Amino acid sequence: MTNPLDQDINRREVPALKVHRMVLGADGMGLFPAGVADMDFKAPQPVLTALQKRLDHAVFGYEAMPDELMPALTGWLATRHDWDVDASHILRSPNILNTLAIAASIFTKAGEGVIVQPPVFFDFYDILKENNRVLLSNPLILKDGRYTMDFDGLEQLASDAKAKMIYLCNPHNPIGRVWTRAELAKLGDICARHNVLVVSDEIHGDITFEGHDYTPFASLGPDYAQNAITCLSPAKSFNIAACCSAFTVISDDARRNAFQVENSRLTVNKNNAFASAAMTAAYSEGGPWLDDVLSYLAGNVALVRDQIATLPDVEMIEPEGTFLMWLDFRKLGLTPDELTKFLRTRAGWAVTRGQAFGVEGEGFARLNIACTKAKLTSALQQLSAAITQIL
Ligand SMILES: Cc1ncc(COP(=O)(O)O)c(C=O)c1O
Repeated sequence: MTNPLDQDINRREVPALKVHRMVLGADGMGLFPAGVADMDFKAPQPVLTALQKRLDHAVFGYEAMPDELMPALTGWLATRHDWDVDASHILRSPNILNTLAIAASIFTKAGEGVIVQPPVFFDFYDILKENNRVLLSNPLILKDGRYTMDFDGLEQLASDAKAKMIYLCNPHNPIGRVWTRAELAKLGDICARHNVLVVSDEIHGDITFEGHDYTPFASLGPDYAQNAITCLSPAKSFNIAACCSAFTVISDDARRNAFQVENSRLTVNKNNAFASAAMTAAYSEGGPWLDDVLSYLAGNVALVRDQIATLPDVEMIEPEGTFLMWLDFRKLGLTPDELTKFLRTRAGWAVTRGQAFGVEGEGFARLNIACTKAKLTSALQQLSAAITQIL
């Protein structure tokens, strides 16, 4: 029986960013598009059905949030992640980047510092720069092919009077760690000791591989929850980035009120009928689809692992979650620009340059594996051929 996820869908039928000239460059339209972090798969059938139903209604005036949406979200968090969230603690937000920016702007002042742990999602840097916040960098430690947090470095940075907040990426884009309870608790304890607010971006939380369970930071206990702003979204989990909004969980009443006041000041309060329909269906009925996607992705990880094992000068960081893989090309001895050029012109790959995630990413590249097996296999063959030629 054929797997529906093997279906090759022409994403150029819509202005999809992943295959758009804005991202690939005018000269890159023929490259293997593996940069932008979405999946090439159709959304879950229940989502498509709900959208069709909403379309058939054919009136698109102002709407409230559907009564079913919050229970669908809290039900998902409880059954899937063992996290009981009080619905009154959840605010709706346009997207996660917006939440990160608002959190920095209302809970820190210009000139104060936000800790990040590179290599990390590039938009963290842009948000801090655009909001005039000081970036306090606590690089992850890479040892024997595995990244861990530098807790001594964190303790030191957090004790700086300037440090007011940390952007935690849980699971961590681009290196694919699914932080353990023990790691999160250690981070939370350090931050609590130094009054550093934990803003946890958990957009990749639903995408984890066997043996690695996502722990929502705020689920560690009431004290952790009181010092947390959690950013959630169904964008990655159900591949509905262009058709959803995000959610922010804030247990502390004063901070939640402050957030609400800011949302109101910015009039961030409109409901999109299609986003509401898609999200409600995704959280209430999308589980089986996600399970299929997770096993497909695990198969794609295996494809990459097997191919990389034949290339002694390339190493892969074993992902515990996310559909993003972090590849180490440092042994090729190329400069970051040479590596980008090599991957584009010789391997035909349009991946995200490692240096976009901080200087710690130089010599690496981030590969998005959420595509068909056929596409991934041929891209891996192109990489092998290109590497064999330069050696
Ligand atoms: C860690 C992380 N946070 C946030 C986003 C973007 O979220 P949103 O589209 O809701 O702003 C991404 C997308 O790649 C991401 O990887």
